[in-house]
Amino acid sequence: MIFQKNKPLKGELTIPGDKSISHRAVMFGSLADGCTEVTNFLQGADCLSTISCFRAMGIQIEGPEAGHDTIRVYGKGLHGLRKPDSILDVGNSGTTMRLMSGILTGQSFDTTVTGDASIQSRPMNRIITPLSMMKADIKSIPGNGCAPLTISSIHKPLSAIHYDSPVASAQVKSSILLAGLYADDKTSVSEPYLSRNHSELMLQSFGAKITSEGSTATIEPDPNLYGQKVVVPGDISSAAYFIAGALMIPGSEVYIKNVGINPTRDGMLRVCEAMGASIEKHNIHEASGELCCDLLVKYSSLHGTTIEGEIIPAMIDEIPMVAVLACFAEGTTVIKDAKELKVKESNRLDAMVENLSKMGADIIGTEDGMIIHGGKPLHGAVIDSRLDHRLAMSFAIAGLAADGQTEIQRAECVTISYPKFYEDLDSLMK
Ligand code: S3P
Repeated sequence: MIFQKNKPLKGELTIPGDKSISHRAVMFGSLADGCTEVTNFLQGADCLSTISCFRAMGIQIEGPEAGHDTIRVYGKGLHGLRKPDSILDVGNSGTTMRLMSGILTGQSFDTTVTGDASIQSRPMNRIITPLSMMKADIKSIPGNGCAPLTISSIHKPLSAIHYDSPVASAQVKSSILLAGLYADDKTSVSEPYLSRNHSELMLQSFGAKITSEGSTATIEPDPNLYGQKVVVPGDISSAAYFIAGALMIPGSEVYIKNVGINPTRDGMLRVCEAMGASIEKHNIHEASGELCCDLLVKYSSLHGTTIEGEIIPAMIDEIPMVAVLACFAEGTTVIKDAKELKVKESNRLDAMVENLSKMGADIIGTEDGMIIHGGKPLHGAVIDSRLDHRLAMSFAIAGLAADGQTEIQRAECVTISYPKFYEDLDSLMK
């Protein structure tokens, strides 16, 4: 796809449902008794992978249909899943892989789980290690700590543990907490910084006994979970592209409706404000225990900042977009403590440094982040998305603000999290 300077971004937009919350609604709904109705479910390929895995384990799930984002999950309780007929395929979805593996360790049947080439190169030892400490039988088939994984039944409860996670990762935390549903006592996880807490909030609303204190979450085993109505807020990670686009492209003003602003996810907003952005929050409300609002974002003259420490997990998926934004801010932006970006759908640290350099940015990669000297115009370039949806969308926006043409190769990978991204972007350029 080709992008070049166009009109300012103007207008109103409702972005699709949150990916993390959509996944969890399917998984927890499957483990609950009764029907879970999920509205504004994200019809991205990742969440559809979660649906197909749970269907393969005997769960009836109605929807979603084209243009209708409601699904109904007819859960069968904590012990109601059945052995799938074949290997479970998570596609590109790390959240499905890691959270579902936590659930599978507690089942009385054996499974094999795999995914695409990206998934097969991502680190799974980060869940294999703690789940094995719980006496789960989970192994990497190639023996390199990556998928495919085999998970075998152990015919007795898992052993409860307290785990000090070396990484602030909601996927790791949630995997252990879900295994904790099948343990012999309370299971707890501490993280260096609090990562997104959607699992904790949603499990509690389904009836789990789960508590959080600082960056430690604790769950009790064997609860009765009950089907719920879940209203999924818009995904701030998807809103990020329009927020950054409006801030970078002179004359822009966009109103983005119903964006989830859970404090464990709103790091990008805080960073943009520190850079001098004009972002107003309107209509602040709660949906299914998650804070939401509308955002009014106007073109702003930005300055550099330092991004490090506990804010990093609260904006982990937005860092590629923020790196582009930093190129349009006067002065220096330093991003530290972001090593995790190396093990996402692609190595996002390398990809940002390489591709922004191609566009003429003054950027250097560091061991755990990057340093960007902004305020110099970017020019178009040919960018390979590396089949990473967040790279494709970040560079589409960069292309709209750069001089000349930017070509995004393998741009269709946005279907992972935002199938209508290009249409929605187009609607703001009329
Ligand atoms: C997610 C957690 C984050 C994030 C991913 C979704 C989740 O990953 O990058 O896109 O839904 O729990 P980590 O937990 O590995 O940081």
